[in-house]
Amino acid sequence: MIEGKKRELARHQLSKIYSKEPRGELDPPEFVVLGRRPPTVEQYFGYKAELAMLRQSVLERQCVIVVGQAGIGKSSLVSNLLESLKVSVDNHFEKVVWQSMSSHANLDSLLEEIFDCLSLEPYDSTQDLSVHVTKLIAILRRERTLIVLDGIEEIFKGATNDKLYGENDNYGWFFKQMMERSHSSCLLITTREPFKDLAFAETCGQSVRIMDLKGLGQDAYGFLESQGLTDVDDGFRLLIQRYRSNPFLLKLVAARIRSYFGGDVDAFIQCDSILMSESLQQALDTQFKLGIWTSLEKQLMQIMAHNDENSEGIPFQRVFKILKKQESDLSLHEFIAAIDTLESRSLLERSQGESEPLVLTIQPVIRKYLLKDPSGVIQESLAA
Ligand SMILES: Nc1ncnc2c1ncn2[C@@H]1O[C@H](COP(=O)(O)OP(=O)(O)O)[C@@H](O)[C@H]1O
Ligand SMILES: [Mg+2]
Repeated sequence: MIEGKKRELARHQLSKIYSKEPRGELDPPEFVVLGRRPPTVEQYFGYKAELAMLRQSVLERQCVIVVGQAGIGKSSLVSNLLESLKVSVDNHFEKVVWQSMSSHANLDSLLEEIFDCLSLEPYDSTQDLSVHVTKLIAILRRERTLIVLDGIEEIFKGATNDKLYGENDNYGWFFKQMMERSHSSCLLITTREPFKDLAFAETCGQSVRIMDLKGLGQDAYGFLESQGLTDVDDGFRLLIQRYRSNPFLLKLVAARIRSYFGGDVDAFIQCDSILMSESLQQALDTQFKLGIWTSLEKQLMQIMAHNDENSEGIPFQRVFKILKKQESDLSLHEFIAAIDTLESRSLLERSQGESEPLVLTIQPVIRKYLLKDPSGVIQESLAA
């Protein structure tokens, strides 16, 4: 049970709008946010199509998953969705429960807080999980609720091909229940690690949608301006290209350019340096330690880091040949499967011009991380 202050926090009500005015027919439905506090973004840029897609998805599906690398803007996008639902007349959610997954070591702790937010009877972890989930689904059927689980990747610790959720098998079971048993609510998840089983369920027509978040694209120009920089020559284009329009990285770089280069973007670019922050390093550390990694995938990342010096990409066939020299029995099928997995983790990219061969690329920040390999994650696994 969550007591005292903790209960107050869990009950913390971020928004109860239009509650003082008499409600008219065209007023958006009353809408409360319970649980943890969603992040606020002062000046939100771009992701318009993604926001529209997300809004539609949470209204249509019982489970929605936003996947993307650290800092790409997953939590902010979902927070922005809540803002847009607040003022929307077609919002059908009555409640939102926001949970940051870093606060929960296991499913019991998560459900305990969700039960508390939804004023269900106290959660008793000695009881059978299926009894609790049945109670939860009953209320989700009656009260349209959006449950946000933000940053869930840690649950993949110790995952293997046979145990996709590693030691957290019951999470896999819980998500399946939320997706398959009929109710009128939505479970919205943000994660850096892709969900292989739910991605498959989506292709089978289950009530789940996976959305990949890939960066701000053209809106990154406005974003850089909002960070106090001015575009001279080709500076913004190069920055956006290097940091793949990742808002967190661009924010970091902009701060560095302001404080060390007097705002001179070109001077920073001339230094030919790729900025690596501690938080990004930590995020990549966890990414290389979480989930299922085959030695082929790690070898492939290493080859990319050592051969894609100018981040211009390496032709697909060349990478295959290099790998084949190291692993003579490597099949094309295995190679393609490894590329697909790495791409879904935002660690590898592919591009293909018209009638040009397929080219594989890695982001400069990931290349820099791998060449330094600060935690020895690649070396460790190759030696294993
Ligand atoms: N669309 C956006 N416009 C402006 N700033 C953004 C946008 N998306 C993300 N940010 C900023 O980038 C940083 C990382 O965003 P966040 O949502 O925490 O990323 P993620 O959850 O994918 O790790 C935050 O400081 C946030 O304010
Ligand atoms: Mg996040």
